[in-house]
Amino acid sequence: MCGIIGYVGSRECAPILMDGLRRLEYRGYDSAGVAALHDGDIEVRRASGKIANLEAVLRERPLAGSVGIGHTRWATHGRPSEENAHPHRSGQVVLVHNGIIENFLALRAELEQAGRSFASETDTEVLSHLVDLELQQRDSLVEAVRAALARVQGSYAVAVMALRFPDRLVVARNASPLIVGLGSGETLVASDIPALLGFTRDIIVVEDGEVGEVAAEGYTARDLATGRAVDKKVLRVNLTPAMAEKGGYKHFMLKEIHEQPRAVIDTMRGRISVEQGEVFLGPEGPDAGFLRQVPRVHLAACGTSWHAALVGRHLITSLARVPVEVHLAGEFDAALALPGPGELFVPISQSGETLDTLRTHREARSCGLRTLAITNTVASSLARESDFVLYTHAGPEISVASTKAFTTQIVALTLLALALGSARGALSPDEVRRLLTDLLTAPGLIEEVLRGSDGIRAVAKKHMASRHMLFLGRGLLYPVALEGALKLKEVSYVHAEGYSAGEMKHGPIALIDEDFPTLVLIPRGPGHAKTLQNLEEIRARQGRVIAVATAGDEDVASRAHDVIPLPDCPPPLLPIVASIPLQLLAYHVADLKGTDVDQPRNLAKSVTVE
Ligand code: M6R
Repeated sequence: MCGIIGYVGSRECAPILMDGLRRLEYRGYDSAGVAALHDGDIEVRRASGKIANLEAVLRERPLAGSVGIGHTRWATHGRPSEENAHPHRSGQVVLVHNGIIENFLALRAELEQAGRSFASETDTEVLSHLVDLELQQRDSLVEAVRAALARVQGSYAVAVMALRFPDRLVVARNASPLIVGLGSGETLVASDIPALLGFTRDIIVVEDGEVGEVAAEGYTARDLATGRAVDKKVLRVNLTPAMAEKGGYKHFMLKEIHEQPRAVIDTMRGRISVEQGEVFLGPEGPDAGFLRQVPRVHLAACGTSWHAALVGRHLITSLARVPVEVHLAGEFDAALALPGPGELFVPISQSGETLDTLRTHREARSCGLRTLAITNTVASSLARESDFVLYTHAGPEISVASTKAFTTQIVALTLLALALGSARGALSPDEVRRLLTDLLTAPGLIEEVLRGSDGIRAVAKKHMASRHMLFLGRGLLYPVALEGALKLKEVSYVHAEGYSAGEMKHGPIALIDEDFPTLVLIPRGPGHAKTLQNLEEIRARQGRVIAVATAGDEDVASRAHDVIPLPDCPPPLLPIVASIPLQLLAYHVADLKGTDVDQPRNLAKSVTVE
């Protein structure tokens, strides 16, 4: 939540900061602001609402200077407004912050008593006052920031500028992401890689407990607690600017839905040998020797990634015959999870920065568990903190609603299930070969569903006025029903509930009437006959049925009001293939209703608060 950008170089910084903010807007979009140092003064421009409002402010009152910072906000303390927008200024200090200062009330009271007056309701403003006060007694901005942060409890990524130090920014981090991008004669800082791709692919990750100086010539880091110099590694990221563009699509969500045939292949690339019936999770993943010994697997995640974990449990248990616990990261309690020796903990997170998931992961590590992160984000906190990593390689996911992250996480979990199964002798090379052959048909099957997008739009048109919708699925498709409901509610604001089809008769059936449509996942295969029974029960109560069913299934077609066809599909692939029409349905309902598809209200892409 919240996006930070900063620039030190020789070019005018305002357009660069604004470009960065547009690319970070998915992290929060309640208000935004930029500041630049010019002619011995720091000027600040801010606006409530989206970046477009800030652009309008800058057209009226342009900003000059080649050292500057910017911020796009997801409100925690203080309503979204211009006064609460960052950057915040106190005396000669101007800063932006992502995170939460937990002891801000006590600090604010103390600062007010000392005569400081506050211009906002935010927790952040105590930080700008503290740095300004510390700077009155010091000749170093780094030292002032260190002294100020020593008084603060909570999470932060900060970028600070001060009048006395016109050629640099100071940054620091604790539990909120921050990276430095090294250009030629210019250096940038940002919350996330896509904001830097237009400038450089050489990045340095700012670690927790680190403070650093950003100058045109580069970055120097120190330990926040001791002040000692820290050596930093430069990473080259394997992404291109085009990957973070809409590429002709109306919305990022639609582009990312259509990227799935490519994305699922990229998740498998270099990790499978069909001929030999083998899966390799290396070089950053665990080897067969390690997997052979794993007695139990824990999966932990939030939101869409948690739905992928529910699919993962099914796949790992059925294919590898290893018991699996699934934890909602926000609910994780090690005392209840009862971790045992040798067990493997698998946090799943697209961003790798979700604080609930990071906290859970740290707790699991402190219990002595080895961990394998499944994430899309190279060098994210989760990737760096875990013993092993399995990158999904889906490419940047910009839309707040996850789509390709979900299907690629399922592919990664399938690979984990196969690697576990063969390491433990639960799957023979022949069985692995057959399953990999099936997996390789996923891109073609996804393409086939994508070709039906216009038909799904027609179904969306029919149902877009509904205020509620029920999603039903069984077995492997129960988590897909949950995910379909989450997608619809987050982008179109239609109230949607995902349920196990078997549970419908235990309560939700009371909701059914002619105004309450039910989407039923009912492809041919296990559970088909029982789910047909659901269709009858819904119809008997005048409910309308949208069936996602195998093309040509007359038993379903004769009982449903609308049918969204699925290609014939091997059962382990159903969660991937059947989730595509649900993503498209949510997208089309939202687009037809005219909601802000890529940046739905109240949400942020990466939730870095607990
Ligand atoms: O980055 P993560 O996968 O950890 O994010 C977890 C959830 O916040 C995320 O999946 C959220 O539910 C999405 N908005 C769903 O579309």
